[in-house]
Amino acid sequence: MRLQGKAAIVTGAGSGIGKATAELFAKEGAQVLTVDLPGKGTGLEIDIAADGAPKKIVDAAVQKFGRLDIVMNNAGIGSNQLAEEFKRESWDRVLAVNLTAPFFICQAAIPHLRDCGAGRIINVASVMAEGTDYGLSAYCASKAGVAGFTRTLALELGKFKITANYLLPGAIKTGMTSPLWDARPEVADVWAKKSALRRLGQPIDLAKAALFLASDDGAFVTGHGLTVDGGLMLRV
Ligand SMILES: NC(=O)c1ccc[n+]([C@@H]2O[C@H](COP(=O)([O-])OP(=O)(O)OC[C@H]3O[C@@H](n4cnc5c(N)ncnc54)[C@H](O)[C@@H]3O)[C@@H](O)[C@H]2O)c1
Repeated sequence: MRLQGKAAIVTGAGSGIGKATAELFAKEGAQVLTVDLPGKGTGLEIDIAADGAPKKIVDAAVQKFGRLDIVMNNAGIGSNQLAEEFKRESWDRVLAVNLTAPFFICQAAIPHLRDCGAGRIINVASVMAEGTDYGLSAYCASKAGVAGFTRTLALELGKFKITANYLLPGAIKTGMTSPLWDARPEVADVWAKKSALRRLGQPIDLAKAALFLASDDGAFVTGHGLTVDGGLMLRV
């Protein structure tokens, strides 16, 4: 029960990494506000990029639990257009969901994280914050942005005993990757074989890393990007 008495928000909790993390946090004793798009079956159904959504999400958690200790910004979308063809509306949407909404959820949470005395921000970036692949210009820009603003939050919020860290998942089998990998198993196989541990990541691999950062064990870790990729990015 490493999160006994804590209250958490997990976005994108209807699937994949967010679902596994919300379940693990709850198993460890936390009260969790699960957030996802309408129809996903979570506690609060909202588009995190909608006008006013960040404040609504934070207010809902504080109203429900009377406190807020942990914010896990996990909801995210991919991009798949070559730079020459990238549509402005796709660019804006990827940046709005993956970068702007998480920042403003953090901002709305700051007073409450300060009040709890040991606040935790965990933002989900990607190994694509540092690497890249075809079609990922907006995705890479958004994830590099998440890493950047999380380091700044760590610096600015340390005086309130709030830590801010980000995860860099590698190739993880989730709702984001399954459609492609189920249709083309050879692609999944390439990713699996490329990693030192010779397998794809599972949502629980990320949930366990998030638990470390959220719990007292991670109390002196801040401004850190934790790569959870089974050694995928070791080789150049
Ligand atoms: N799967 C991977 O290989 C991988 C690798 C690196 C990073 N990531 C990151 O991990 C995070 C979680 O992704 P996942 O792989 O579990 O994918 P997923 O598609 O299984 O889960 C993402 C969830 O976010 C929700 N979501 C998307 N847009 C939203 C919005 N506007 N408002 C509210 N909810 C929204 C989706 O409905 C979905 O349930 C993402 O930020 C993703 O970029 C994933």
